[in-house]
Amino acid sequence: MKRRSFITKVAIAGSLPSLAPKSLFGQDKSTPVIDGPIAVCTWNFKDANAAAGKALMKGEDALSAAISAAEVEEENIDNSTVGLGGTPDRDGRVTLDACVMDHNGNCGAVLAVENVVHVAALAQDVMEKTPHVMLAGHGAEQFARSLNYPSTPLLTAERKKAWEKWKHEARYQPIINIENHDTIGVLCRDKAGNISGACSTSGLGYKMNGRIGDSSIIGSGLFIDNQVGGAVATGMGEEVVKTVGSFLIVELMRQGKTPQEACDEAIKRILRKQVGKSNFQVAYLALDKQGNIGARSIHEGFSYMHFNNNINQNINVQPI
Ligand code: GLY
Repeated sequence: MKRRSFITKVAIAGSLPSLAPKSLFGQDKSTPVIDGPIAVCTWNFKDANAAAGKALMKGEDALSAAISAAEVEEENIDNSTVGLGGTPDRDGRVTLDACVMDHNGNCGAVLAVENVVHVAALAQDVMEKTPHVMLAGHGAEQFARSLNYPSTPLLTAERKKAWEKWKHEARYQPIINIENHDTIGVLCRDKAGNISGACSTSGLGYKMNGRIGDSSIIGSGLFIDNQVGGAVATGMGEEVVKTVGSFLIVELMRQGKTPQEACDEAIKRILRKQVGKSNFQVAYLALDKQGNIGARSIHEGFSYMHFNNNINQNINVQPI
């Protein structure tokens, strides 16, 4: 997503919370049961979340719906942090990471994949068609070719131009903030009440070749326990991995915390180790089995999409 349009959309979204039921923010200690299919995704990915919502309303399962949301952003060349049109690494290579997890606890992931647009779907294929959980690099690409995924160069002219400009100084600053990073993480609850999720990213712009963040690491970028709920992360993957953030949130919900309380604690867990050094963004989004949502970020600017009852809306999130 272009930086300017992203900021504008979030600013508009800032007026939306009053439209949303209180339970959307997970501030009630009680856990109201919210009926019907639910789709939530990180950031203001309106079309992506609408695609998931539509799939759920048609009766598709939660995993298919979550992947259909990821695919919208994977195909969106204006989104410079997911899929086609993603920002390359410092060597000019666009490498993608993705993972999926279903309501049975099955999961699949692909890491540092080139020339494949639909990496969340590829992660599902790893889960369903191989004896493995993770495939990386050339092996993952070979697997995609064996399944007839088209070979698509991912570096667009616009991203190449930006990379060439970056190379003049080539300052390697592994700092992720709200303006350059917007991984899509999706959580869906289907008509049967089952929860699944998907996560897809091109990772940190101008990263070292081979760098992997959180988005393909089950438990970090995504975790689902169908008895409890699910969580996804976006932002500085290194910090999410260090605290296994999504798993932490689901475990905290299992122990009785609301999704909001669990997200708050997961953000605090990062900040306790980073006193005075938090010039990066991390945000979490969680959904419990009853349909309650929690979300929290370190810095301003994070929002998420929420679909329920045929209403798809953007919710601005207050930082911790
Ligand atoms: N959150 C995505 C990454 O750090 O790669």
